[in-house]
Amino acid sequence: MRILAAADHGGFELKNLIVAHLRGRGFDLVDLGVNDGASVDYPDLARRAVETYRGGGFEFGLLFCGTGIGISIAANKMNGIRCALPFTPFMAEMARAHNNANFLAFGGRVEYPVPVAALVDAFLAAKHEGGRHGDRVKKIHALEDT
Ligand code: RB5
Repeated sequence: MRILAAADHGGFELKNLIVAHLRGRGFDLVDLGVNDGASVDYPDLARRAVETYRGGGFEFGLLFCGTGIGISIAANKMNGIRCALPFTPFMAEMARAHNNANFLAFGGRVEYPVPVAALVDAFLAAKHEGGRHGDRVKKIHALEDT
């Protein structure tokens, strides 16, 4: 399973932790940067990640900024993207089971109740349920041109 990751300067350290965690679990991670604290604009990293994802071959993407908020908003502006911002393992599980998220966003400056690695693991352990949840996901994308 191929997973991509991208971060701004507020999220790169957390990205590096999660990339190492997932590589340790045997996943194939593509790290799109950034890799230092020099100030960059999170919409640029969201664009880089989504354009790479659209190239194909990725199961999902991980985005990181200071809060996860800006980079998730930016990604969700791009057609076909369902970027979730989970804070608990339940939210991470539901992001896949109900919303079939294709991106997760996290904040490098956020104090989470559990390690972010546990949130990513909860997402990975879940399966999209389809059915009425799949229909609702289709309705999300029907909103894109409104
Ligand atoms: C950058 O300072 C910060 O605004 C960014 O990382 C993110 O938190 C925005 O939502």
